[in-house]
Amino acid sequence: MESTQADFLTTPTSLLVALVTIIFLFNRAWPYLSQSKAQKVIESIANTSLNDSDLTVSKEPEIPEGWWSGREVFELERRALFSQTWVYLSHSSQFEKPGSYQSFDLAGFPVFLIRGKDDKIRAFHNVCRHRAYTITRRETGASTILGCRYHGWSYDTTGRLVKAPQFDDVPGFDKSKNSLFEVHTHATDQGMIFVNLNSGQPAVFDSEMTSTLSTFAGLEAKSTWVAGQTLSGDFNWKIGARSGHLDAYTSGLHGRMSELSRPSPIMKLVRSIMGKSTREECFLFPITLMYSFQDAGLCLAISFFPASESKTNIRYDLFALSVVSEPDIQEMSEVLQSTMKNLAAEIELEYQSILAKQGSSGDLNATDIRRILSRLQEHTKFERIEGGQVLPAMHKPEGSALFQKADQLCKELDCVSGGSQNGTSPSTLDW
Ligand code: FES
Repeated sequence: MESTQADFLTTPTSLLVALVTIIFLFNRAWPYLSQSKAQKVIESIANTSLNDSDLTVSKEPEIPEGWWSGREVFELERRALFSQTWVYLSHSSQFEKPGSYQSFDLAGFPVFLIRGKDDKIRAFHNVCRHRAYTITRRETGASTILGCRYHGWSYDTTGRLVKAPQFDDVPGFDKSKNSLFEVHTHATDQGMIFVNLNSGQPAVFDSEMTSTLSTFAGLEAKSTWVAGQTLSGDFNWKIGARSGHLDAYTSGLHGRMSELSRPSPIMKLVRSIMGKSTREECFLFPITLMYSFQDAGLCLAISFFPASESKTNIRYDLFALSVVSEPDIQEMSEVLQSTMKNLAAEIELEYQSILAKQGSSGDLNATDIRRILSRLQEHTKFERIEGGQVLPAMHKPEGSALFQKADQLCKELDCVSGGSQNGTSPSTLDW
């Protein structure tokens, strides 16, 4: 009998059964294991020591677990920060005519800005109201009618649904209830466009930011866009988006840009008297740095758009206060591109070094870390009171209960038949 049991435990079939059982049990337990890990990280953020005096004292804050590479922290940042903070996206000069648009991905929230026929620049979630397919698929473009390529719904520049093939006779369907979800915008006197994704009432635009921008002699309403591009980098956005750390790069860049901008004789004289050229920096919390190269009449905006906890898209744009010739634009673009590629490579190295030191903040700017941490802690407390996660950017659909029920059924069927719910697999849907 003993030998029969021993034989059973060593046969290939029994080993296979044991293995399958272990995998099954592990899979059942995994959600609970990972959930407890997420909870632990959120708790560590909530419990990190931070009081009012920390916000003004420049000592190094304690870095919570997963700060630089944790999925849970990134998800919390999406809810606590990017869902409800005013974020600089673009400048009015980047929208030349009605229909000019620019698309962005802000921490996994696809949005786009578009100039309307009334000249107003509006922002929308870049998500079709039918089956959530992406509306603007290029980074920049121009069209006064935006057609979704999945089933042909079309929207105008105010986000209004103007065409919904085969839906006109559907009971309970109301075009006016299916406009694109609009995003709050704030345009400054300098023509800078900020957005706030909060689907409810957003925070009042920061008056401190308004006064900072009014004294920052860099970007004006009459500035024109010269060059720009988006690069991707393998690092956490917080490594890039902090004040005062790009000095080495921007100082070299400033010198080159000043040469290329062909300064006037008066400006040359001012420079030689001052012995140095003038440069000013402005940090637009949470993701943008602006540099004014005053003697060259140029301004550079660099934004670090989070794509995930370890990937960031760097968007940079150069603006001029006066007309720049085509050959100069070409040269400036090349200089900028090579500088920004080097910058991305250097930040990637810095990120690896921080990860190797297991999250130490090293010489990172403590004030920036503290500011983000404070927002995350506030939101964590709010979620505790609410008894669950709160995503302020989330919109609730409108429409009759009957239509919503039918629509939900269609979405489920769409899922089963392999349709895209988030627009991330466009290749199978193109026509
Ligand atoms: S028309 Fe946009 S997803 Fe169907």
